[in-house]
Amino acid sequence: MRKAILLLFITAGFLVLTGLTPKISSAQTTPLGLPAATYPTSNPQTTDKVALGEKLFDDTRFSTTGKISCATCHDRLKVFTDSPLKVSEGINKLTGTRNAPTIVNSVFFKKLFWDGRSPDLEDQALHPFVNPVEMGLKDHQPILSIVRSDPEYANAFKAIFGKQGEGITMKEVTRAIAAFERTKISGNSPFDRWRYGGQEDALTPAQKRGFDVFINQGRCVSCHVVEQTQALFIDNRFHNVGVGINDIQETVPELAVEFLNAQVTASEVDIKVLTDKRSSELGRFAVTRTFNDLGSFKTPTLRNIALTAPYMHDGSLKTLRDVVVHYNNGGVTVEGDPVNDFLSGGIRPLNLTDAQINDLVAFMEALTSPEFAGTTGQK
Ligand code: HEC
Ligand code: HEC
Repeated sequence: MRKAILLLFITAGFLVLTGLTPKISSAQTTPLGLPAATYPTSNPQTTDKVALGEKLFDDTRFSTTGKISCATCHDRLKVFTDSPLKVSEGINKLTGTRNAPTIVNSVFFKKLFWDGRSPDLEDQALHPFVNPVEMGLKDHQPILSIVRSDPEYANAFKAIFGKQGEGITMKEVTRAIAAFERTKISGNSPFDRWRYGGQEDALTPAQKRGFDVFINQGRCVSCHVVEQTQALFIDNRFHNVGVGINDIQETVPELAVEFLNAQVTASEVDIKVLTDKRSSELGRFAVTRTFNDLGSFKTPTLRNIALTAPYMHDGSLKTLRDVVVHYNNGGVTVEGDPVNDFLSGGIRPLNLTDAQINDLVAFMEALTSPEFAGTTGQK
């Protein structure tokens, strides 16, 4: 009797293993320098879902001109950005107000967009399709028409989500896209091999000195966080480091009040900040309506940063050296200019020497993961 039950268990286990359940993609091995990724229970990773997500990510049919896909602005050959563009170009070369961030390591981001207006990758993926300066659709209906009728898509949605026809909604579309994005995890840079892999010669002497400036005199680490066992170079928070807002300083109070009175909905915020330069500079304020957040933006990761120029939410700083000089000046691009009224308390003049500035830049060049080294854009 016992034997029979045991046999039953073994057989059942065998059936499960051989594909009666969806193929869960083998947990991705964590690259050196990163924490283990976690995935939402509502959207587990499976190999087929990831492949579907990639196909959707690359499909230009989901734009009014048939020419723009997510990958246009998040190009895998450019660390999933559109470097060297200052701000992104969508349909008919229309430009937005912001520089395209990478989706690499976005599995670790707690909020999406420069101002954090989106809570997760699933929600985020809804917006570009219907933004007038990105993919330009009036609503999501054209996407659904394609995925419901195109046989390859229809089969995939049926196999992965058990949905067909009208049953396929943007929920499934965005889940697949998010699952794909969550596979783009990269570490194992020279810095990681030095700090977490014990490889003493992975960094040059200049890069090691640069790391010292990064964590000490430069105080960069207070926002671009480095931990004992891993480093994401983010804090999942928002700060005003003096970029962009200086241009609209005089009109900020007026603009902020205008924004508060307008009672804009979340999707209107998405359109407004990407089509109106002045509203864009309000930063996190546009989401929280808190004055403390004026001109604040999300701390971006510095991984692969040498490959994704230009920099900052508005792409206004051309090189890593320009960025360091901006911080060295205490949050102003041109030394001696007045600082903006809402500057983060963490930003003060740093008194770095020219040699320290060079070292800091050299350090940031050590954050490139091997899978992106040598791709377009590398200096
Ligand atoms: C026209 C260029 C363009 C297209 C097309 C585009 N994006 Fe983006 N993407 C951007 C820009 C610019 C931002 C920053 C906008 C902001 O923060 O306000 C961004 C932000 C993001 C972010 C947030 C990253 C972060 O660090 O918070 C993700 C994720 C993303 N896009 C994924 C996608 C997906 C998925 C698609 C397709 C459905 C897509 N994008 C289509 C330009 C584009
Ligand atoms: C108070 C928090 C804070 C400190 C301190 C700080 N940063 Fe930043 N960093 C940010 C934020 C926020 C942004 C985005 C700002 C924006 O776009 O307006 C940013 C952007 C950057 C960028 C551009 C990234 C991109 O993708 O465009 C680089 C490079 C950078 N910081 C390097 C440094 C260095 C080097 C230091 C130290 C000298 C430093 N940061 C100190 C918060 C900080």
